Amino acid sequence: MRRTLIAGNWKMNLNLQQSEALAKAVAESADTDSVDVALCPPSVYLAAVVNAVAGSKVAVGGQNMYHAAEGAYTGELSPGMLKDVGCSMVILGHSERRQLFGESNQDVCLKTHAALAAGLTPIVCVGETLQQREGGETSAVIREQFEGSLKGLTAEQVGGIVIAYEPVWAIGTGKVATPDQAEAVHADLRKLLETSYNAEIAASVRIQYGGSVKPDNAAELLAQPNIDGALVGGASLKADSFLGIISPR
Ligand code: PGA
Repeated sequence: MRRTLIAGNWKMNLNLQQSEALAKAVAESADTDSVDVALCPPSVYLAAVVNAVAGSKVAVGGQNMYHAAEGAYTGELSPGMLKDVGCSMVILGHSERRQLFGESNQDVCLKTHAALAAGLTPIVCVGETLQQREGGETSAVIREQFEGSLKGLTAEQVGGIVIAYEPVWAIGTGKVATPDQAEAVHADLRKLLETSYNAEIAASVRIQYGGSVKPDNAAELLAQPNIDGALVGGASLKADSFLGIISPR
C-alpha cells in the first residue's frame, strides 16, 4: 500500500545544462508506473527542471526553504515560492543543513508546518552520527529528532509527510548501512508513528533510506519491509545510476 519513492538530492552540484539534460533523461526512462520519482535540484534550476520533466510523472522538490511566507529574509525561499515554480515536495532537516548550517529540530518543525500549510510534501530527515551510533544513542537521537521535528502536527498532517532515515556516517561516504541496520531504525520509526499518532498513520507514512544508495545495493535495501524508498545523493547525479536505483535488478 505504500508506494516506493525514489528522490534524487542533487545538493550543490551540476550546472543548468546538465540539470536539464539529467531531468529529461530521468523523465524519459523512469518507470513511474511502479515507483514515485522526485528530483531535488539546486533552487536556481528548479524552474528549468520543472520544465524539463513537464508531461511526465516525475515530481520536483526543493532542498530546503524558510518557514515564513514572505519578507525581509535575504537569501531565503518561501514554501509558496517553491509551489509557485512547480514543486510538490521539499527536503527538510537534511543532516548537512543541521550540521553545516545549524538547523535545530525547532527550525525543522517550523518548516514542516509551513510546508504542509503550503501544500508541499515535506521529506523530513533524521539520522545519527557515527559517534552517536557507537555510543549506543541511535534510538534516542532518532526519537528526539522525530518528536522535535514533528511537534504540534496532527495525525492527519503527519499522514502527509515522508520521513527519510539518513545515518550521517553513511552520507557521501560510500559506507552504506546494512539492510538489517537500516531496517531496525525504520521499524523503530514506524513504531514511533504508531505510538505518537495511530496505526493507520504508521501503516501509510513512507520512510525512505538515504546514505550511499547505489544501483548495486538498492534492491536489498528496498526489499526490507519498512524501507519505502531512497533519498539518493551522489548516485542521483547520473541518469544511469539513478535509473538503476529506480528499477534495480
Ligand atoms: P549520498 O547522499 O547518497 O551521496 O550518500 C544521500 C543524501 O545526503 O541524501
